[in-house]
Amino acid sequence: MSLSPSSRTPRCAKLSVTTLKKTRTKKRPIVLNKIYNENCLDTMNRMSDDIIDCTITSPPYDNMRKYDGNTFDDFDDISKELYRVTKIGGVLVWVVGDQCIRGNESGTSFRQALRFKDVGFNLFDTMIYAKPPRGAVGNNKTYWQSFEYMFVLCKGIPKTIHLIMDRENKDSRNGDNGTKRLHDGTLKKLKRGGYNSTGRRTNIWTYNIGRGHSATDDIAYKHPAIFPENLAQDHILSWSDAGDTIYDPFMGSGTVAKMCIKNNRKYVGSELSKEYYTISQSRIKSCQTHRCD
Ligand SMILES: C[S@@+](CC[C@H](N)C(=O)[O-])C[C@H]1O[C@@H](n2cnc3c(N)ncnc32)[C@H](O)[C@@H]1O
Repeated sequence: MSLSPSSRTPRCAKLSVTTLKKTRTKKRPIVLNKIYNENCLDTMNRMSDDIIDCTITSPPYDNMRKYDGNTFDDFDDISKELYRVTKIGGVLVWVVGDQCIRGNESGTSFRQALRFKDVGFNLFDTMIYAKPPRGAVGNNKTYWQSFEYMFVLCKGIPKTIHLIMDRENKDSRNGDNGTKRLHDGTLKKLKRGGYNSTGRRTNIWTYNIGRGHSATDDIAYKHPAIFPENLAQDHILSWSDAGDTIYDPFMGSGTVAKMCIKNNRKYVGSELSKEYYTISQSRIKSCQTHRCD
């Protein structure tokens, strides 16, 4: 399958993309519906410009966990590469939190969001991923750490927006026609708009986490930091169309790939760890041979 790169550059681009092209050496072209067991910089190195419709990912942050020995300190290069490979109007969802050391939060989340703006992305929305009932212990002297940020960034203005309409309104009403008597005694015809029983969600999304909640397949929990399948799915549905290409540069256990298969999207992924890569392959296989849920 071939993907044709676009040559247009959005008006909001602040950092010259040409500076990034220089460092790229063309290797084999990217294959769709594949996870690469390698550094995401190597995977993006295979990609031509403007080919990804949507990236949904959660990076390792503040080296809080040793993912099979992998640390993450290439943020600057990764942010530039993500901008380069994203289509005009493509969206990047960056799910991240902060470590707190001796009463001082790292601020990594904000630094990264601002850096993404520096390389050209628009910060379209700062969303919250809430994890009831309490989330992580965090610092014993603060309130429970019960959320992460979901920065929704865009190369220009999102080309695809399908807002999920599942927030319940207090009641619903059909539109109707009425009349109002004016001072001079005449009747004025009025039209009253209606509203549905559900409306668009708020930008705080809540997911129960842990075994039995985050994923439907047990093998996923062998990875120490999966995000919920429903979180991945909700972003896929919000910012892409069927047939679009979704990238996860930190694929972990393969959650994004699994949700792409379930929702008829193409996926590309990168995962450094052989162990987690193997988990992702097993999840994909069972999703393809049985059902994804
Ligand atoms: C927070 S986890 C992602 C979990 C994933 N969202 C899931 O649901 O399974 C981050 C992953 O990034 C991987 N990783 C770290 N640095 C990487 C790099 N430079 N390129 C590719 N993968 C990397 C780690 O091994 C880890 O599995």
